[in-house]
Amino acid sequence: MQNELCDRLGIEFPIFAFTHCRDVVAAVGKAGGFGVLGAVGFTPEQLAVELDWIDDHIGDKPYGVDIVIPGKYEGMGELDPVKLEAELQAHIPKEHRDFVSRILAEHDVPELPEDEKMHELLGWTAATATPQVETALEHEKVRLIANALGTPPPDIIEEIHETGRLIAALCGRADQALKHKDAGVDIVIAQGTEGGGHTGEIGSMVLWPEVIDAVAPTPVLAAGGIATGRQMAAAMAMGAAGVWTGSLWLTVEEADVPPAQMESYLSATSRDTVRSRSWTGKPCRMLRNDWTEAWAQEDTPDPLGMPLQFMVTSTAVQRGHRYPEQAREVMFNPIGQIVGRLDRVRSVKEVIYEMVEEFVEASEHLGRILED
Ligand SMILES: Cc1cc2nc3c(=O)[nH]c(=O)nc-3n(C[C@H](O)[C@H](O)[C@H](O)COP(=O)(O)O)c2cc1C
Repeated sequence: MQNELCDRLGIEFPIFAFTHCRDVVAAVGKAGGFGVLGAVGFTPEQLAVELDWIDDHIGDKPYGVDIVIPGKYEGMGELDPVKLEAELQAHIPKEHRDFVSRILAEHDVPELPEDEKMHELLGWTAATATPQVETALEHEKVRLIANALGTPPPDIIEEIHETGRLIAALCGRADQALKHKDAGVDIVIAQGTEGGGHTGEIGSMVLWPEVIDAVAPTPVLAAGGIATGRQMAAAMAMGAAGVWTGSLWLTVEEADVPPAQMESYLSATSRDTVRSRSWTGKPCRMLRNDWTEAWAQEDTPDPLGMPLQFMVTSTAVQRGHRYPEQAREVMFNPIGQIVGRLDRVRSVKEVIYEMVEEFVEASEHLGRILED
């Protein structure tokens, strides 16, 4: 199943797997796909530890790193992360902090031990993401850097290209895709609204061909709602160079997902997600629960912009991970509508092999239609 993109990256299957879990990145690479580690939650030092680990476990396979530099955010232009965090903290209304404390208290989610509290401002800005890029570029097997939520700044594109790597960027509209192409992005990732995480309003079936036609001959990866070989075949029949998947990797054996959260994912149907600004400040698809409902009420505070909202909610993310049983109904569960098909735990290898097998069957099915 090789195509030009597979050859450029040295992979067997054009299956790209976005994940926050290093074990998944290594397993995907070893199974012939291309794992991409989401860096947003790591300090540059923690990221270096994760990438060293992947280097030691992925053999001679390549992988990627994903950063988040939005096109627009509060505090844009400030390049000192320490100053920026202090400056932004001053803009957070007490009402928002109190509201977070109240929701967590109502659900009996314990406070974090003092020594486990982390920075509130993670990699959601150029100031915090640029050092992550530096760290990524120190790792030889990193062959691709992807950026979410905007066109990467010109200096970052230049720096990545100078090292011979590829740069990709996500989009949810054709005009965003054209901006990426004009800026020199090598691969455009078109994510339909079905997808997990930050997502736009246009469905995959409409978005993919629009973006593919708009940026041709730049390769486009189809994202949003893909978990099977049939969906992959559909995307590639429309002209996608491969598929970019995220939700699929939350329910694999290798995923670092607490059992209570895994149960929520495995039992959810495709109707159970919502696009909500309640965690990060930008519309993000996740499981609907008491948290998303609380922020959607008329008499509760409106979510702040990015990155302020996440600075308010980061403590809730951490408390959710520390006490997943208690936090079950107020947990940050980013996942797409495909969650309805994710009803059993498989290994990464099984997922990739089943996907490839089904892709071949679907392609043969189309071939037979032509012969008849
Ligand atoms: C748990 C989760 C976290 C995500 N975080 C990011 C992120 O930090 N950066 C990014 O570029 N995309 C992120 N995404 C979006 C994925 O890269 C991908 O585009 C999306 O999952 C594709 O749709 P799917 O979930 O239907 O497969 C995230 C997706 C999920 C499910």
